[in-house]
Amino acid sequence: RMVAPVALKALGVSATRSFTASARAKNKVAVVGAAGGIGQPMSLLMKLSGKIEHLSLFDIVNTPGVAADLSHCNTKGKVSAHKGPEEMGAALDGCDLVVIPAGVPRKPGMTRDDLFNTNASIVKGIAEQCAKSCPNACFLIISNPVNSTVPIFGDVLKTAGVFDPRKLMGVTMLDICRANTFVAENQGMDVDKVSVDVIGGHAGTTIMPLLSQVKGAKFSEEDIKALTHRIQFGGDEVVKAKDGAGSATLSMAHAGAYFAERVLDGLNGATGVKECTFVESSLTDAPYFASPCTLGKEGVSEVHGFGTLSPFEQSLVDENVPALIKMAKKGTDFVKNN
Ligand code: NAI
Repeated sequence: RMVAPVALKALGVSATRSFTASARAKNKVAVVGAAGGIGQPMSLLMKLSGKIEHLSLFDIVNTPGVAADLSHCNTKGKVSAHKGPEEMGAALDGCDLVVIPAGVPRKPGMTRDDLFNTNASIVKGIAEQCAKSCPNACFLIISNPVNSTVPIFGDVLKTAGVFDPRKLMGVTMLDICRANTFVAENQGMDVDKVSVDVIGGHAGTTIMPLLSQVKGAKFSEEDIKALTHRIQFGGDEVVKAKDGAGSATLSMAHAGAYFAERVLDGLNGATGVKECTFVESSLTDAPYFASPCTLGKEGVSEVHGFGTLSPFEQSLVDENVPALIKMAKKGTDFVKNN
């Protein structure tokens, strides 16, 4: 059978464990921005998982073609297409999970924050419709700058009176993918066996890998500095190599589909599902902060601490919490003023 748990395998998760709990579950999952560079391959991976009863594809352009194409894959689950603002409500109606890679990506020389002006209003509009059509869904935000778009989404839901902190997550999984890949290369370890926690946010130095906690690894001080920098700025390698054609799409599709499946596993009753994600948090003074979280039947069931930090990691946290506070405030101010 053509079911491909590729995404799971690559992140070192046993396919059997992840697939059993939800084998009979019914889910409606929407991808918002489904015709884009991330949206298309991510929707493909989600369709191939066979775990989604109804995959609802929304974009302002091109969704009929993407959906027709995907619907011919001989895996379980129906695919529907919804195009343009007037069809967004139908796309979101009754969803259990909404994954959002809508908005413009970076070009060389840009930071994620440079995308704020365009993407803030896109994300705000999507949040407003979600509050109406599927207020009880889990929302996974991929659109950058995540450090600001998640607070924007949260504030819109708060204004509408439907915010549930367990159900709003910024997707930082690509940072974990990169960390696992780069650490495995550096240490000569099997990538399936490497698991790096990455905390903080999703932009430059706010991305903070906890290399001191990687089991079985021995790093020199130089390694730690170089690896930390590469994990923080790994996105720039892709933006530069694509030379104007966008940012990470394939690796992000993999990371996004994997994370969505993990959230679904939790919703469907699997136990012991733990991943790092960017959530409302009281661990630091930043209103939102990524750390390991247990994913359960209502989304995030527990926000875990980040354990003992090395002095280097502690200095990263101290230096970057103010930046996270500032980026969250930028989002909050945007919702207040628009
Ligand atoms: P893209 O430009 O290829 O695709 C974006 C899609 O969003 C397009 O199909 C566009 O029509 C659609 N869109 C625009 N406005 C919309 C709206 N109001 N409703 C629904 N769809 C809308 O961009 P790509 O490469 O797919 O990136 C998408 C976003 O993901 C960017 O903001 C990028 O920075 C971010 N990203 C986040 C990562 C993460 O780790 N969280 C990693 C890589 C990219």
